[in-house]
Amino acid sequence: MMKQELAPANLTDIARTVLKKRYLLKNEHGDVIETPETMFWRVAETIAAVDARYGASAEQVEERAERFYHLMTQGYFEPNSPTLMNAGRPLGQLSACFVLPIDDNLTSIYETLKHQALIHQSGGGTGFSFSRLRPRNDVVRSTMGVASGPVSFMDVYNHSTEAIKQGGTRRGANMGILRCDHPDILEFITCKLDTTKITNFNISVAITDAFMRAVERDEEYDLINPRTGLGQIASRDGLKHPLTGEVLVPAGQPMRLRARMVFDLIVQCAHATGEPGLFFIDRANEYNPVPHLGEYEATNPCGEQPLLAYDVCNLGSINLGKFVTDAGTIDWESLRDVVHESTRFLDNVIDANHYPLEQITQLSQRIRRIGLGVMGWADMLVRLGIPYNSAQAIDLARQVMRFIDEESKVASEQLARERGPFPEWEYSIWGPDATCARRPDGSRIRPQRLLRNCNVTTVAPTGTISIIAGCSSGIEPLFAIAFWRYQADTRMLDINQDFVAQAKREGWYSDELMERIADTGHIHHPEVPASVQRVWVTAHDIAPEWHVRMQAAFQEYTDSAISKTINFPHEATPDQVREAYELAFRLGCKGITVYRDGSRANQVLSTGSTG
Ligand code: CDP
Repeated sequence: MMKQELAPANLTDIARTVLKKRYLLKNEHGDVIETPETMFWRVAETIAAVDARYGASAEQVEERAERFYHLMTQGYFEPNSPTLMNAGRPLGQLSACFVLPIDDNLTSIYETLKHQALIHQSGGGTGFSFSRLRPRNDVVRSTMGVASGPVSFMDVYNHSTEAIKQGGTRRGANMGILRCDHPDILEFITCKLDTTKITNFNISVAITDAFMRAVERDEEYDLINPRTGLGQIASRDGLKHPLTGEVLVPAGQPMRLRARMVFDLIVQCAHATGEPGLFFIDRANEYNPVPHLGEYEATNPCGEQPLLAYDVCNLGSINLGKFVTDAGTIDWESLRDVVHESTRFLDNVIDANHYPLEQITQLSQRIRRIGLGVMGWADMLVRLGIPYNSAQAIDLARQVMRFIDEESKVASEQLARERGPFPEWEYSIWGPDATCARRPDGSRIRPQRLLRNCNVTTVAPTGTISIIAGCSSGIEPLFAIAFWRYQADTRMLDINQDFVAQAKREGWYSDELMERIADTGHIHHPEVPASVQRVWVTAHDIAPEWHVRMQAAFQEYTDSAISKTINFPHEATPDQVREAYELAFRLGCKGITVYRDGSRANQVLSTGSTG
């Protein structure tokens, strides 16, 4: 099937440039041999073709492909980058997110290292829990030697990533997770203070509810050796504080730490470099849709997907800014249609996908996880005239995400009727089985629903696809209204076009003002009306608390997790970071990532001796 005339894609110049550089097919000489239109058609056709396996006629498949083409070329919905790059091509790997297991033996560590390479080559990102590895200096019976510990193996994975530049498209991204009760936790927390180390990893500490209770009550907790399942005894040197060198646990004593001291260290490091983030592992597991298949131990690189071992998720995001009418209202009917069509798209991606590992193929077919998210949230708010940092925005976030989550589930139910539910449905939290669908107190975790997909919703960062769709990324606030873009030695003014339109409409536009906004990095100039200044807030005008509240509002109606950065001004204190971490826990987030302006360029904290 080849479409004769493809309707032109509605793309900005920047979007065309990004596509040309990294997404469009090239021949062996490196010449681009696709247009954005033929690329989108390649994707639409490949994903729509799956319908034929479920009985659709050639004509129906063609119609479906046209609808998918329309969604992508008009910027209503975009699938994650690997789908755009690889659909209909020999590699055929369409997913962005993977988690691979690492068990406490060399075979497992190096098998998974190989699998990481294969996934990165295909454009996917990988997450790992290092929590099962025995701690540094623990015994290795086969060689009578001592173990290297999780952080040194993470460094091996980091070096391998560095060596493999994802098939010329993008460099591999990783998430490294360690439980708060692992004996090497202090080394892990501080391992990225040197910002030149482990650069291909984001790191998060897996935080249990018990740990947070211990922080609250200022109690101690035990560090557990995963090899024995028993409390760890401090070795010859004792356990020292990695920054001050103070002996926290003398040699030969059981390793018990004050939870507050560990939490303080996390906060101090996150304040200094943005890492580690937190992964609230118990909360993530409460919403694990298939607990009979295993527990979540890690997430994908940007945190929006807690996944099982050999689990995968293909993502796609709806551009919310497109659903604001000229009258300044939300077009819910169109949004519903796009949610239904997008859900179908993502369900088809599972069948069109070629995974690099058999274990991944099997699990993806058994649970059929998809990740439908949003982008253009900040655009939607400014078009509606609602400031990001307002109760009204938080209420609307709940309303919008609740609608999308519900409609996506209605679409998944429709698919289940047509094609059958996901094979593990009966024992999932959506099924009738009483043991895994209920909390210990007998209450249902989720209402019983016959779904095609074990999880449907998420919020991804949408780093590249938001550029392709020409919208603000994920649920982040606008980063800037106007800024200077340097490209090929020329300085170009990049201005938010909605802002320009409003300025012209209201009669306060001037080229000089726009340049001044780009120069100063803010819109607090006398010509800009106060009401406009209130609505057009950017990331740095917004107090961290609003960032956290926004994340929590979206989380309430999202199956999986949310990728979001909580921005802090440069002068923010460690206590403010602590407050954000505690608030995220209180409000039901599944994790949190912070970034303090300018902190990575900073002089890093000097590290003392490690214990
Ligand atoms: O916009 P795009 O589809 O390119 O990706 P994103 O929404 O920014 O990121 C979605 C997911 O893709 C991340 O959470 C990672 O799992 C993965 N990713 C990656 O592996 N490598 C990157 N350089 C960027 C994203």
